[in-house]
Amino acid sequence: MALLIQNGEIVTGDSRYVADIWCEGETITRIGKDLPVPEGAEVVDATGKYVFPGFIDPHTHIYLPFMGTFAKDTYATGTQAAVVGGTTTLFDMCCPSRAQEASEGFATWLEQAAGKACCDYSFHMGVTKFDEGTGAQLRRIVAEGVQSFKIFLAYKGAFGIDDSELFATLQLARELGVVTTAHCENETLVSELQKSLIAAGKTAPKWHYESRPPRVEAEGVHHFLSFAELTGAPVYIVHLSCREALEEAIRARLRGVNVGIETLIQYLVLDKTWAEKPEFEGAKYVMSPPLRDKSNQEILWNALRQGLINTVGTDHAPFDFETQKPMGLSDFTKIPNGIPALEDRIRLLYTHGVCTGRLDLHTFVNVASTNAAKIFRLFPQKGAIQPGSDADLVVFDPSHRGILSEKNQISAVDYNAFEGWKIQGRPAVVTLRGEIAARDGQFIGKTGRGKFLRRPPGQSK
Ligand code: URP
Ligand code: ZN
Ligand code: ZN
Repeated sequence: MALLIQNGEIVTGDSRYVADIWCEGETITRIGKDLPVPEGAEVVDATGKYVFPGFIDPHTHIYLPFMGTFAKDTYATGTQAAVVGGTTTLFDMCCPSRAQEASEGFATWLEQAAGKACCDYSFHMGVTKFDEGTGAQLRRIVAEGVQSFKIFLAYKGAFGIDDSELFATLQLARELGVVTTAHCENETLVSELQKSLIAAGKTAPKWHYESRPPRVEAEGVHHFLSFAELTGAPVYIVHLSCREALEEAIRARLRGVNVGIETLIQYLVLDKTWAEKPEFEGAKYVMSPPLRDKSNQEILWNALRQGLINTVGTDHAPFDFETQKPMGLSDFTKIPNGIPALEDRIRLLYTHGVCTGRLDLHTFVNVASTNAAKIFRLFPQKGAIQPGSDADLVVFDPSHRGILSEKNQISAVDYNAFEGWKIQGRPAVVTLRGEIAARDGQFIGKTGRGKFLRRPPGQSK
């Protein structure tokens, strides 16, 4: 298999120039001007288009048993949606229940992905309990190439761990050089606020916000980062949504805590009024932490621009509006949490970030691809365009104009949170390790070609 991407404007985190990219097998082998066209090579004319490194979503839930149901996508539909949207690598959260062993959870997620994944993937290994057997299992999973953990300070009784378990997890993570990612919300505050709201008859989707106000998230961030500070473990905050939480994270950085920060495309472009829509429509926009007051959006954009926030993910957690969100029709605490966005992340970020002048192209590439590769140890295999890197490339047409809609999405969920939104630009051609996997919004790759990425070990301490 040989592939030549001709005459595109190559844009990475730190460079921008027009050249050809020659890919042999699964990797980029040469970059230069006017490269010869070898016989039999597949040629993509990228004139007038950008060529970006394949995008990386650092936070998805393709397979997710949660709140009494399962997220709608399979590894086939979810990763096809990812590829069409320009995402060639994703990190799925491997979330065993507290009743399950870590090793069972890991085996389950591998099994779900095998033969179905259409983009490359890794996991953040959920540590949803820490008992006598957990440490040895986690060591084995890390040795398999899973170099990051995931913990939940939220979801009392489901995935949430207590402080002793958190301490043990971070000590092990520090020893192994593993990055621990965390959902930071104080679960006790959430459950007490939920009880008061429900007792007062406040049951509609809009009350979800009141059960998880910014201080609940800020407290979670402060709590987690105190543990990170005292254990010395490298950490990463997932789905940071608001100024209060960002302030806590920056304060911790100033104390020397090694913390990466992720926000989500949803927080950048949607605000809490979407979850206040009448007729239960707001349930489409229930996720945790909740959508925030609009005033947070420019703070998050600015933090991305300034390098204070490292990544933009989706936390893709698709639950049908017709059949699954109504589990919480008379009680917002039972609405399955999540706003799907995996397919649309890049087009939304380009439209609302680059086209508005909020992000330059390099920052766009960094926050949507390169930074995640660096934080989670895939760089320069992923997140880069250079000889030796995987030939994951997005030939992006900035002149395309389109409309987001459930009608033409691949994800298996029955709604699109951005229905009818106008977008500028889209991936025209997406390659995964040297093969064209999507063209003009259609998946044309091979189902099951996506591979589990074994990441190299970190610095043990
Ligand atoms: O609402 C959300 N975020 N759903 C998915 C589970 C999680 O907390 O990441
Ligand atoms: Zn979460
Ligand atoms: Zn999540």
